[in-house]
Amino acid sequence: MTAVPMPTVDLAPGLTVSAQGYGAMSLTPVYGPISDEAALHTLARAIDIGITFIDTANVYGEGHSEELVGRVLRDRRDEVQLATKFGLSRGTPGAGRSIDGHPDSVRPYLEASLGRLGVDHVDLYYLHRVDLSVPIEDTVGAMAQLVAEGKVRYLGLSEVTADELRRAHAVHPIAAVQSEWSIFSRDVERAVVPAAAELGVGFVPYSPVSRGLLSDAFDPDQIVGGDMRAHFPRFGADAIAHNLTLRKEVRAVAAEANATTPQVALAWLAAVARRLGVVSVPIPGTRHPQRVEENAAAVAVELTDEQVDRLDGLAEQVIGNRSADPTWVSAGRE
Ligand SMILES: NC(=O)c1ccc[n+]([C@@H]2O[C@H](COP(=O)([O-])OP(=O)(O)OC[C@H]3O[C@@H](n4cnc5c(N)ncnc54)[C@H](OP(=O)(O)O)[C@@H]3O)[C@@H](O)[C@H]2O)c1
Repeated sequence: MTAVPMPTVDLAPGLTVSAQGYGAMSLTPVYGPISDEAALHTLARAIDIGITFIDTANVYGEGHSEELVGRVLRDRRDEVQLATKFGLSRGTPGAGRSIDGHPDSVRPYLEASLGRLGVDHVDLYYLHRVDLSVPIEDTVGAMAQLVAEGKVRYLGLSEVTADELRRAHAVHPIAAVQSEWSIFSRDVERAVVPAAAELGVGFVPYSPVSRGLLSDAFDPDQIVGGDMRAHFPRFGADAIAHNLTLRKEVRAVAAEANATTPQVALAWLAAVARRLGVVSVPIPGTRHPQRVEENAAAVAVELTDEQVDRLDGLAEQVIGNRSADPTWVSAGRE
């Protein structure tokens, strides 16, 4: 596949990133096995073709994703805009995973991430989940201190409600909100995307390929071992067969647009974000260099309004929540 030129986007004033990022959770075996060698190769390929906005978190692979990103960045730090996150501790959804947004925890989390990444600063530092036992103003106040010290350039929040975003933004400018958003997960469009558009905050849709559902390669039999999708209701035995039928219309649009199903998923997001007036940079994840290239090529796929409209109604037909615990994501608290 020939790489298409990758445009850049101003996610926030002064934070220019590639129009599509790379989600480095996939460098660890969350959606199937991956060797370190393959992970390093895939990430290097992403950067080679101009995907410079790299997204990781302290919790991915219990730090291993950050270590792998650090290995690739050893002599390429200046080529990328590096984002990581803090605030989640190990465990699986509903089984021991916990949130820590205490102001005293913010600095040690960052120091540990900088160490694993082998860098002296990150470009974007996200609170991974809001700690409901701590006022968000306090967590963001501690994050702002790290900006003042030059260890972090911009602040981000993940899965915040519109109200939480406004409160945080009043303490320190928030550059980006990162939440799940795709053809199959549209709840963020109700409140948090409009709030981000109004405040001039960028949006980083995660799981834009719906954790693989919006691809032709997905097969429920792949969900074995520690695959995190086993925890999500929409991937459950009572939902998955129905949800897979919803790909039919996406495939039909893909055939018309001379594109692939994941490319249509990404092109749909771009069109809807434009409609809603928000700057948006999706971060698909994959273990395979050729799929990095396939996803990147979506920046050149334009859907017609009629095609976008045909895909608009699919989310409400999806059976099963996108999270095991509804309050874990913004829609459960809006
Ligand atoms: N803030 C948060 O709470 C949060 C939550 C989840 C994710 N994230 C971030 O967002 C990133 C993206 O999320 P995600 O990994 O769930 O995104 P995603 O791209 O929607 O899903 C990844 C899955 O889709 C498959 N896939 C991706 N592109 C494909 C293609 N072109 N053809 C076939 N299959 C394809 C991958 O399979 P293969 O590996 O087999 O290609 C993988 O199983 C993560 O890496 C992470 O950085 C953040």
